[in-house]
Amino acid sequence: DDRCWADCMDVAVRMARRAGQVVQEAVKQEKRVSSKSTPTDLVTEADQQVEDLIISTLREKFPSHRFIGEESSAEGEECILTDSPTWIIDPIDGTCNFVHSFPMVAVSIGFAVKKELEFGVIYHCFDGTLYTARRGHGAFCNGVRLQVSKEKDISKALILTEIGAKRDPATLDIFLGNMKKLLSAPVHGVRIIGSSTLALCHIATGAAEAYYQFGLHCWDIAAAAVIIREAGGCVIDTTGAPLDLMSRRVVAAGSREMAEYVARQLQPISYERDDHD
Ligand code: IPD
Repeated sequence: DDRCWADCMDVAVRMARRAGQVVQEAVKQEKRVSSKSTPTDLVTEADQQVEDLIISTLREKFPSHRFIGEESSAEGEECILTDSPTWIIDPIDGTCNFVHSFPMVAVSIGFAVKKELEFGVIYHCFDGTLYTARRGHGAFCNGVRLQVSKEKDISKALILTEIGAKRDPATLDIFLGNMKKLLSAPVHGVRIIGSSTLALCHIATGAAEAYYQFGLHCWDIAAAAVIIREAGGCVIDTTGAPLDLMSRRVVAAGSREMAEYVARQLQPISYERDDHD
């Protein structure tokens, strides 16, 4: 199996680069934008085209595998993780950035077998940076081994988060309250770059100490979780429990202590699970 998943990963890398080049070209064209769950949950024609390209190519090569994709799920395909080999795909992570040509957009391809994440590939469409990791084999950025930050002191931490699609006043109060709690810890700083997957890659490289978010999806975490873990980091649920891919909640950090500290500061924002009926 190990050899087989390694071969799948080679295909994922080629696919992510190819899809990334399509996205790069699409950035220069006029975008057709519409919204999904809320007015700020955006989708473009390019998201759908790139997801179709990725899934149809992979399905042809691996007809017995299952596929979870951001846009197929939006169109009503079920989003359930089974024991079967499953590809978990975000064709354009950072769709709002893509719409504005803000240069933080990625293709993310994760792969799970028996509900365990086996590898992750994330391609930064603007600068061509490639993040890869396979369980037990380390994490890499353009082939260079990654290592998370060893900083244990929260007052010296740079924290990353993302906003999520809900913008009602009650949600925003909790969101801003969480940020206020961390800013007054005080951490060194808080950043929002508009792409969950690339933000999570910054935890793997050690550029930031911790990441937290409510409202992201399984395709935002799947690939990045392997990359962070293989770089020596920790990815857990905001309750402190083990990561639940479908729960729409995550804390990631260079160390378990840092992840648990951040998790303890957070008041939860509830989102419907990805695998709801
Ligand atoms: C979204 C982005 C955004 C984050 C959302 C994600 P998408 O992904 O990463 O920054 O706040 O939770 O779903 O929709 O652009 O693929």
